[in-house]
Amino acid sequence: MSLPDGVDRRTFDGRERLATRGDPVYGEPTDGPWRLWDAGRSKLGAMLELGLDTGLAGGEAVLYLGAASGTTVSHVADFCGPTYAVEFAPRPTRDLVDVAENRPNLFPLLKDARKPATYAHVVESGLDVLIQDVATRGQARVAARNRQFLRDDGRLLAAIKARSEDVTADPDAVFEDVLDDLRATYEVLETARLDRYHDDHLAVVARPRTTD
Ligand SMILES: C[S@@+](CC[C@H](N)C(=O)[O-])C[C@H]1O[C@@H](n2cnc3c(N)ncnc32)[C@H](O)[C@@H]1O
Repeated sequence: MSLPDGVDRRTFDGRERLATRGDPVYGEPTDGPWRLWDAGRSKLGAMLELGLDTGLAGGEAVLYLGAASGTTVSHVADFCGPTYAVEFAPRPTRDLVDVAENRPNLFPLLKDARKPATYAHVVESGLDVLIQDVATRGQARVAARNRQFLRDDGRLLAAIKARSEDVTADPDAVFEDVLDDLRATYEVLETARLDRYHDDHLAVVARPRTTD
């Protein structure tokens, strides 16, 4: 699978790794203008490393849910267009605001992803991509509630964390339940376990279900 424009493979410590061009954020190694995108610290990075068909070509308008301190969303802003980053914990959002300082296309929002009405006046609709990594109970519900921002042929790229739904249940059973719930709003195009990089996480690529 080809990488989006603005994402490349560069050699770091003798190994080919993903990289984007932008100011370093989390102490990652650099190679000229390129900075390492560590798939072990980023579910979206892991999806690209594993060759999922994310539909990302570069330049997309993005809503990112669960931005934390900005590790992954900083890379997204390096190769995408307007990138709205929602995070509800104040501490990481402060770091995220710093990350956005040198990235004019990155818009941090201290908001709860379960309440899209609280940011619908800021975030444009008809976005190309919804990236979700909220690690909270009700991950399918969060994706459903934010579907309103996506264009009809847009993409949901979600990392589902089994333990956030149920710490004791078998992850495969949890993923089946979450996928069942997701299918009410989305057509699931591809799934893959991310365990090589992130234990008990399922990557989901989906597009909005339309009525016609
Ligand atoms: C696994 S971390 C995200 C890591 C980040 N995506 C990255 O790769 O750099 C999950 C984040 O989701 C946030 N989160 C959980 N529930 C949320 C909600 N309802 N609204 C907004 N953020 C939420 C948590 O505070 C946490 O920072």
